[in-house]
Amino acid sequence: MRVLSGIQPSGDFLHIGNYFGALRQQVALQEEYEVVLFIADYHSMTSVRDAAARRVYTHAVALDYLACGLDPSRSMLFRQSDMPEVCELAWLLSTVTPMGLLERAHAYKDKIAQGLTADHGLFAYPVLQAADILLYRADLVPVGQDQKQHIEMCRDIATRFNNAYGEELLVVPEPFIPKEVAVVPGTDGRKMSKSYGNAIAMFASAKQVKKAVMGIVTDSTPVEDPKEPKGALFELWSLFASDEEREEMFARARKGGLGYGEVKKDLLARLLDFFGPMRERREELAAHLDDVEDILEDGALRARMLGEPVLAAAREATGLGRAL
Ligand code: TRP
Repeated sequence: MRVLSGIQPSGDFLHIGNYFGALRQQVALQEEYEVVLFIADYHSMTSVRDAAARRVYTHAVALDYLACGLDPSRSMLFRQSDMPEVCELAWLLSTVTPMGLLERAHAYKDKIAQGLTADHGLFAYPVLQAADILLYRADLVPVGQDQKQHIEMCRDIATRFNNAYGEELLVVPEPFIPKEVAVVPGTDGRKMSKSYGNAIAMFASAKQVKKAVMGIVTDSTPVEDPKEPKGALFELWSLFASDEEREEMFARARKGGLGYGEVKKDLLARLLDFFGPMRERREELAAHLDDVEDILEDGALRARMLGEPVLAAAREATGLGRAL
């Protein structure tokens, strides 16, 4: 079974919510599945208009995944735009995609509501995403709540294309719902999100991480008083503790005498410890970006071996180009 994901290069850091909510599971998939992972730089053009920033963000995604254990000898990691064939497939698919389908897309409507310009790229975003999935004959696509509809649209588009040009042409993918996806709270108790300014970056300096951890919002229960072990601080702390450690800490909280400051200090130590080896690996890789580029190039080479026959079959079936 082939599992495929795309990640938009839209910022220069990932936070621990990204790690526990998605990245960790994506990397773990390589134990059981053939993993195809690409950096969706074409898609990022719908929000980022700075060429230099796009390159930096693209490298950041590659570095983050490699640092967190994605093994490029087992899994395929590549840059979407190193396979421009995906744009051709997107065109073919667009000719069977009803306007009404795209008009119903929540992500599109949300982005317009947020003030993004309604350009064609943003509107056609789900068609390119469908091409990403269909070009590599992915069986499974991991989905968070926000991407569910895009996978449904991909299935719809694939079915329409197969109905028009040949039943076996495209593999209709299934959504894949990973087990134990954590919703990680941010320092203010809302869901951790870069746009809320409540994120703890995975690879920020120790000083910055300390500042974020010490800033986690708690109530003003005095140290001596019993506390219900709930809220952002205890939830974040629990991500880095074993079940036994959690039982023990929570019992201490309920008994009284455990201060929030102590929990914060312990969380900081655990956090730095947990991400320490990954941080080292990331720094090592970042000092050798040529090697990272080689990894991406090799990934694209392997992606092309999957994608080329699919596009060739689609061209043949639609009567494009010289007959095979
Ligand atoms: N739209 C996805 C996101 O914003 C990124 C993406 C692009 C993607 N192409 C994909 C995800 C194909 C899965 C499959 O998160």
